[in-house]
Amino acid sequence: MEKKALLKRRNEEALLGGGKKRIEAQHKKGKLTARERLQLLLDEGSFEEIGKLVTHRSRDFGMEKEIYPGDGVVTGYGTIHGRLVYVFSQDFTVFGGSLSETHAEKIVKVMDLAMQNGAPVVGLNDSGGARIQEGVVSLGGYADIFYRNVKASGVVPQISAVMGPCAGGAVYSPAITDFILMVEHTSYMFVTGPNVVKTVTHENVTSEELGGAHAHASKSGVTHFAMANEVECIEHIKKLLSYMPQNCEEDAPVYPYEPADEARAKLNSIIPDNPNQPYDIKEVIEEVADEGSFLEVHKEYAENIVVGFARIGGRSIGVVANQPAYLAGVLDINSSKKGARFVRFCDAFNIPLLVIVDVPGFLPGTDQEWNGIIINGAKLLYALSEATVPKITVITRKAYGGAYDVMNSKHIGADLNYAWPTAEIAVMGAKGAAEIIFKKEISDAADHEAILKEKEAEYIEKFANPYGAAARGFIDEVIMPDETRTKLIKGFKMLENKVAKMPKRKHGNIPL
Ligand code: HXC
Repeated sequence: MEKKALLKRRNEEALLGGGKKRIEAQHKKGKLTARERLQLLLDEGSFEEIGKLVTHRSRDFGMEKEIYPGDGVVTGYGTIHGRLVYVFSQDFTVFGGSLSETHAEKIVKVMDLAMQNGAPVVGLNDSGGARIQEGVVSLGGYADIFYRNVKASGVVPQISAVMGPCAGGAVYSPAITDFILMVEHTSYMFVTGPNVVKTVTHENVTSEELGGAHAHASKSGVTHFAMANEVECIEHIKKLLSYMPQNCEEDAPVYPYEPADEARAKLNSIIPDNPNQPYDIKEVIEEVADEGSFLEVHKEYAENIVVGFARIGGRSIGVVANQPAYLAGVLDINSSKKGARFVRFCDAFNIPLLVIVDVPGFLPGTDQEWNGIIINGAKLLYALSEATVPKITVITRKAYGGAYDVMNSKHIGADLNYAWPTAEIAVMGAKGAAEIIFKKEISDAADHEAILKEKEAEYIEKFANPYGAAARGFIDEVIMPDETRTKLIKGFKMLENKVAKMPKRKHGNIPL
């Protein structure tokens, strides 16, 4: 056959994946194909494919008759908003997107290129897992990918979108990456599926209940984002990348920002008069950040802490904030893990941190103690202490006990610490404190209630304010809420060239 005609035929075969019928079946399930997804993800005309004509080498179980160019994964590079990214997109129409030796080699190739050239990797996962006909070479292929996921961690951002099945050991590649997005109703992740669960634990559960987007967004925290459909999911990946640098040696892109009147009067009326009344910390974040720039991560998981990306004066920052509207903003196991993981991502990729504090302490109880609040709370303490990026704290109200230390206090390396006049920086709440330190006076008094009230007021006067901490320099300035945005713009600008070195070591030993 003429060379040009042969090339044309091979290329056309590759574009068809597993064939028209299987493409139709994919569409019927409400799913796009691997190539359609890449078309939506990458800037128009920017995709360059690598390994389009790769085929599997399997000769067992009649596989020699079933050869599909590309072998179930489309790999290559392109740009998103003009910035280089490496991509792989599993093609469910070819053996259910299952991972063969060669399929794995293609993914490994783009991951290696991404690390060498310093650009993010985006993986679109839609796969029945290890290619059953291939046995151990397929398992080896998975391990080759896991190994690269670990090597690339903290070097280039890695994003996984799960857009179909992802089961068994296959889940561990997305799990090691920085962010996971899932699509409601068409994707699931689990180590063992409903049938095995039923056999082992006698539980009746559907795939969706066990490992669907909602379960992982709200119960396990495995996924950071549950998206309504694939188009939304892909748009979200692009938005997410806009806050990140290309690699650990670069800074995130700075967006145009015109200085204006940065006073935000609304902030003056957010804190309720009653210190035990909740308010929504997201209103504070929205006010201090550039308009519409806040992108929340892990929205439905451990809602007592809010984390996400935002911009201040056009610069990317990571925000970690206690949420008084949920469990009074208390720190517990899940919120500590959530906060710590996010802080470590930001620190690895030079994204400055803003920590907004309104925290009554750690959650008491046997459930928390027996499940390891000590070790898990320590994760957030460790992550914030270890972070060398610019770190600014704003205490809006409560900063009690150990949680004061943990939430980016001056003592663990914060660069600038602000407090609003409503801040209460103390070992504990005034009532509890009065009950302990004036126990004898209260029990001796004729009117217990009256003396308790009096001692409580005394404690409030002395400690339930920011001035003791400010007098010692633990708080750099007590500011009016409406000034916060101005202070943050100036503060992050002042800190933009911060250099902070940790002692020489192989790596620290975060309490896992
Ligand atoms: C080879 C596979 C395959 C696999 C699916 N196919 N999974 N081929 N290896 N792992 C093929 C099917 O034979 C079928 O081929 C086509 O893909 C579409 O599959 P369907 O079953 O028709 O699709 P659907 O009904 O949507 O079901 C999807 C599915 C199911 C739930 C993923 O296919 C399934 O259960 N597959 C097996 C999953 C599995 O056990 N994988 C191994 C997991 S262990 P035709 O020719 O009919 O179109 C594992 C270990 C990883 O992955 C370890 C890493 C350390």
